[in-house]
Amino acid sequence: MESRDIRQTFLDFFDQRGHVPLSSSSLVPANDPTLLFTNAGMAQFKDTFLGVEQRPYNRACTIQKCLRVSGKHNDLQSVGPSPRHHTFFEMLGNFSFGSYFKRETIRYAWELLTQVFLLPVERLWITVYIDDDEAERLWEETGVERRRILRFGEKENFWTMGDTGPCGPCSEIHYYLGSDVNAQRAEGINGVDDDYMEIWNLVFVQYNRDEQGGLTPVPSPSVDTGMGLERLACVLQGVKTTYETDLLRPVLQRVMELVSKDGDHYRRYRASYNTIADHSRAIAFLIADGVRPGNGWRDYVLRRIIRRAAYVGKTLGFERPFLASVAEAVIDTMEEWYPDLRIKREIISVVTTAEEERFNRTLTTGLRFLEVAINRMAQQNTAILPGREAFKLYDTYGFPLDLTQKILAERGLDVDVEEYEEGRREQQERSRIATHSKRGREKED
Ligand code: SER
Repeated sequence: MESRDIRQTFLDFFDQRGHVPLSSSSLVPANDPTLLFTNAGMAQFKDTFLGVEQRPYNRACTIQKCLRVSGKHNDLQSVGPSPRHHTFFEMLGNFSFGSYFKRETIRYAWELLTQVFLLPVERLWITVYIDDDEAERLWEETGVERRRILRFGEKENFWTMGDTGPCGPCSEIHYYLGSDVNAQRAEGINGVDDDYMEIWNLVFVQYNRDEQGGLTPVPSPSVDTGMGLERLACVLQGVKTTYETDLLRPVLQRVMELVSKDGDHYRRYRASYNTIADHSRAIAFLIADGVRPGNGWRDYVLRRIIRRAAYVGKTLGFERPFLASVAEAVIDTMEEWYPDLRIKREIISVVTTAEEERFNRTLTTGLRFLEVAINRMAQQNTAILPGREAFKLYDTYGFPLDLTQKILAERGLDVDVEEYEEGRREQQERSRIATHSKRGREKED
């Protein structure tokens, strides 16, 4: 099943069950200073869950653009080596604002997966929060074998949007991708084995977490579910990784064409190709949503992502800007569902190339500087790059800290982050004083 049909089938299923299909909100959250980027389908409904905002409906469903690059939900470090983690992804979600709770949520999810998408029940596993007897019983009543329902604690089965906000116990649906159905083991769930994959998270929203970590009940128990489109597509298209789905394959294809390499090269440098494909999606969608590379809170995330992708491209042999061309493939793949990308095609290209060119001017010399520092570390028998060197890479060569960390981690090395932060604070202080005295001089003039 193609991803466009998956999206439509999901929305139709919930529409037929009284949910209002709504558009994805922007990746830049409206009026929420606690959230860097929209990281889940529920973000646009936060105030509705908290009872602060009333809506003329109490059921909704969406396909939400999400970005997980910082804070509580951050997948940036996993992208590349992981067969299924992304910075940018789409989340299929159904929401109840006090309309229904656990029973219907579980029933709908099971019906959609097993009767509409026809997933084999013998590959599905369920997890529930450690003390959630009710959810366990409801899954059993739905027809799930008891041995396939597992209990986990806070880390896996209690979902919170960030440090604060709506939260509650959750129940997840996992899928076994392995070739031998008889080889399945309960220990595989939430483990490191890539044959097991979480596909859908059903959150039973009961509380609001405050800044002190305290929990207060929300006005009415509600529901927030989220299923990764890329992961469901992976299952329904019979592939092992999300990068092989119709959502990402054309983007990888473009990277291969640009490096003039084939599948063998891809298999050898899979993590690099995947990183570029993943980051290009984030780049295209962030720019389309109005973000520009810079040093501000949100802008710096885009800068980091572009520079990271540019560096990875260099390791694959790119000498000139190439990301705009990869972003074109993203636009071609996604514009049918997100027509905004089509309208923003030009600006996506211009902004990406300008930032890449800016970074390319210092990338080679920065890498040389780092190489010298790494040799010195070897002589001094240390695996930690002094923070002041990492700071120089940032300040003089435009290397975001996480890029320096990534390059070092590839060789089993790390950075003295504390010393780096000290350098950054000192620089901020210096520029604060400089601005202050400049203003003073202007006044005197
Ligand atoms: N908010 C939950 C999640 O992101 C379910 O949508 O996993």
